[in-house]
Amino acid sequence: VRRLLLIVALACGCGSRLDGGSDPTHDDVNPADRKILGVPEPYPADPGLRDRQDELDSAMRTRRQIAWATVQKVLQPIALTDPTLGASVPRFQTWYAKDDFVRMFKKLYLDLGTAGRKARGPFSDEALVAIFPWNATMVDQLASWPADRYAQYLARLQNDLDVQGEGAGHRVSYSPSVMSHLFRNYAGVLDCLPRLPALDPAAPPVSSDNFTACYASEFPVDAAVVKAQWVRAEFGAKLGGYVTGADGLTRRIADGAAADWGDGDTQEDPGADRIHTARLSNGNVFRLAGLHIMTKELRKWLWITLWWSPDPDSDFGADRPVALDGVWRNYKMCVVSAADEKDPAPTDAFADLPSLQAALGATGAIAGTPSWCSNPYLEKGAGNARTNCIGCHQHAGTALTPEQILADPTRFPDNGRREVRANFPTDYLWALQRTDNLGAVVSDEAAYYDSFEKGTP
Ligand code: HEC
Repeated sequence: VRRLLLIVALACGCGSRLDGGSDPTHDDVNPADRKILGVPEPYPADPGLRDRQDELDSAMRTRRQIAWATVQKVLQPIALTDPTLGASVPRFQTWYAKDDFVRMFKKLYLDLGTAGRKARGPFSDEALVAIFPWNATMVDQLASWPADRYAQYLARLQNDLDVQGEGAGHRVSYSPSVMSHLFRNYAGVLDCLPRLPALDPAAPPVSSDNFTACYASEFPVDAAVVKAQWVRAEFGAKLGGYVTGADGLTRRIADGAAADWGDGDTQEDPGADRIHTARLSNGNVFRLAGLHIMTKELRKWLWITLWWSPDPDSDFGADRPVALDGVWRNYKMCVVSAADEKDPAPTDAFADLPSLQAALGATGAIAGTPSWCSNPYLEKGAGNARTNCIGCHQHAGTALTPEQILADPTRFPDNGRREVRANFPTDYLWALQRTDNLGAVVSDEAAYYDSFEKGTP
């Protein structure tokens, strides 16, 4: 009976958001979506990039070229599983959402058995290999998803706007290897969460190749995570447009300015031909205004962000490669490979692209000063227009809030951009404790089984 209850609990935890969840911006990947998307496509990492860290750090032009190539891989169209659809979505939309993590972790932990759970034993390699295809077809076993309901759900995908709703609308998506790494290290996560608040930021890393406190090793090179900003599009909803050329940046982030992106310089109403647009299964239409990307191709990650622009070929869009086509030609990009700018003359190489050269100059790109990269749509805090991704993310795993990091020039100089830690407890990932709260998924599940298994023989 208990096993039956567990299976029921497992099944119910899944599709519940489907029927018009209360917050449409957090509509996730339900079991039917997952079947449509299939087992996600890995991130095709360049394993040679780590050896080029110095080259990236010391040459802005190379850094931006590599970043655009990375963007292309993240956005590459990937076919949906049903060949009759003949449709594809950008690669990142095939990646895992929080509810994929919940389904897969619950299944792995259930199958581990009482003895394995009590020992906090590892999942077997076979179990880890099998969990992705299981998740991609588990809808077929759900009583709540009989074949005709799935067929209707699929038939709903009438045009590209509907298709783009698959894997869209939620905040954070994880490449498959991020999931595998968290599964392999679930016991480490359980163990580290209560220890994190007391961790000394100056303590040397546990070993020369592991600066984390939660995992037996750092994330693998093909780990990639994106954070999306989807904005409602119907009923004439306008989207703020931002001037990110030298003028707009100087006004916002020069010394003494508030460094706040605010609501936008213009009001825009771009159609689906000018901005990536998706209709979710609940009928709501969203625009992709911004996309953060972090990949573990560099040890402290490569940090990239894309933002939509009404004037896309100037400044941070001026060097966009022609190979990046379609709607993506309307996005601008910045990149950070280290906390400090190490290009001895970051703007010199851009004489042929004067608007980009001027904009980079306006970010204060000078060797030895903190690097810069910030997204007008995703970074809304006071001081957040003067940040660089890596400086704030170094604190992931601590109890600090972004607001504290942005606004304490004594402890966290330059709006938190300087590297001030010697260890990086969760490998720069906030998701264990914030928003998706993956750590709580693991600890709640463990506590649930402990409540009746602990003390049993
Ligand atoms: C001031 C702090 C801060 C800055 C600056 C910042 N982030 Fe984050 N980031 C967060 C927090 C906090 C989260 C957790 C999710 C949330 O609260 O939205 C997060 C989440 C993410 C995620 C999802 C994975 C995770 O860690 O949970 C990605 C990817 C990401 N950020 C990339 C970037 C990139 C790229 C930049 C720079 C362009 C950037 N971030 C700048 C604080 C920051």
